[in-house]
Parts: sequence; C-alpha cells; structure tokens
Amino acid sequence: MPRPTRERPRRHRRASDDRCPKGLFVCFEGLDGSGKSTQARLLQEALGAPALSLREPSKGPFGTAIRATARTGRLSPLREHGLFLKDREWDCHHNILPALKAGITVVMDRYIISNIAYQGALGVPLHSILEDNLDFPWPDLTILLELDVPKALARIRDSRGECGLFEREGFLRKVSAILNILELPNVVRLDASLGEKTILKKVLKIVKDLTDANGILAEHRPRMRQG
Ligand code: TYD
Repeated sequence: MPRPTRERPRRHRRASDDRCPKGLFVCFEGLDGSGKSTQARLLQEALGAPALSLREPSKGPFGTAIRATARTGRLSPLREHGLFLKDREWDCHHNILPALKAGITVVMDRYIISNIAYQGALGVPLHSILEDNLDFPWPDLTILLELDVPKALARIRDSRGECGLFEREGFLRKVSAILNILELPNVVRLDASLGEKTILKKVLKIVKDLTDANGILAEHRPRMRQG
C-alpha cells in the first residue's frame, strides 16, 4: 500500500507546528447528506478573511481518477485507499501546506476521517488507515456533523434524487458505526439536524475560542474509543 511519504513519524504533525505554522486548519466531516459542504462554505464566507476552501477527493489528478472510478465501477478497497492517500499527498503538497504556511485559513470538506470511515467500512483495518495518514498535517479543528442514516438517506434523496455507489444504506450504516466509535483529537461533534444557522453559530463560536486559545484544542494523539 503506498505511503504518503518515505519517513513515517510516530505522531501526526500539528497543523500549527514549526514546519507548517500560522494558518488555521479546519475540516468538516460527516455522512453524505450531513451538510458538510454547506457549513464549509458558510464558514468560509463568515470568516471574512482570506480562507482557502478545499474538498477531498480533490480536483487534482488522483482526485479526478477517484471520481472517475466511482462512476465506472469500484476498485478493490486497498487500491482505492491507495488512491485517496495519493490524492491527499497531492492536496497537501499543492494546496494545504502552502496555504497554512502563508497564514491562510484552510477549510476542508472531508479529509482523513472520511478515509478512516469510508475505507474502513470497506474492510481496510482502521489502525492501518490511521498509520498511513500519519505524515499529513492534523487539523486544528474537525467539525463532525452527526446525522442518523435514515435522515442522511432522506436528505440525499431529496437533494440529489437518487443514491450513487457511495451512498447505499448498508454501507452508510457501516460508515456511521465507525464515525461513532472514533475518538480523535480536535474533533467537535455537532448535531447535523439542527438548522444551518444554528450550526454555523456554534461553529463560529468554536473557531473563535480556538483562535483565542492559539489554535490548541487538545492533545494530538489519534486513538479509538474504547468498547
Ligand atoms: P462526493 O460526491 O464529493 O460526496 P460528498 O458531497 O458527500 O462529500 O464524494 C466523496 C466521496 O468520497 C464520499 O462518499 C466519501 C468518499 N471518500 C472516501 O471514501 N475516502 C476518503 O478519504 C475521502 C476524502 C472521501
């Protein structure tokens, strides 16, 4: 399985450490239909300062290949996982790290937690996915929008008319089960069934508190919830 880089440190880099300083690194995660993309956009607009809005799979060569395989038929879970890692490596090198180093806030729609939950649901071991991601900068804040699967499916049906390959109920249940057991640093869980404005207000408060505290929310040691 491809590695993000040659050397593998024991811990995630903090987005705000010496090697990748300054810009705040915020991610939105959650099931399809949880409203991540909307909240990422609203946050970027509300920040009023220069902020780079990105999503994974990215618009780069590997992200484009991933979207193409989603249309034409799935790769094996391990090959797909390898492509997501390549895409993240590309995204970090070309977009995320240059922006953070320039002091620009980065707002992501999906990142490592999607990798853990979605490829984990396909059978790739969770701990190995975590390890494969250790070289990438860990977000200062991840907002995990929690929504139960029936509501997520209803929203997907209402907004997109049908469910694609990524969106089958049984699969989403597995993804949701993994999201529920993850216990990772700097993650704040919010109820995705609250209204858009209420969620945005909460997100802005969390971002303000974080900025006031110099971008430090918690210890950066990835781990799983017990039990
Ligand atoms: P997309 O159409 O962008 O969905 P959404 O609007 O819900 O984000 O498809 C992205 C899909 O890629 C989504 O179903 C989750 C999946 N994904 C992975 O499987 N692994 C990953 O590492 C990432 C970043 C996304």
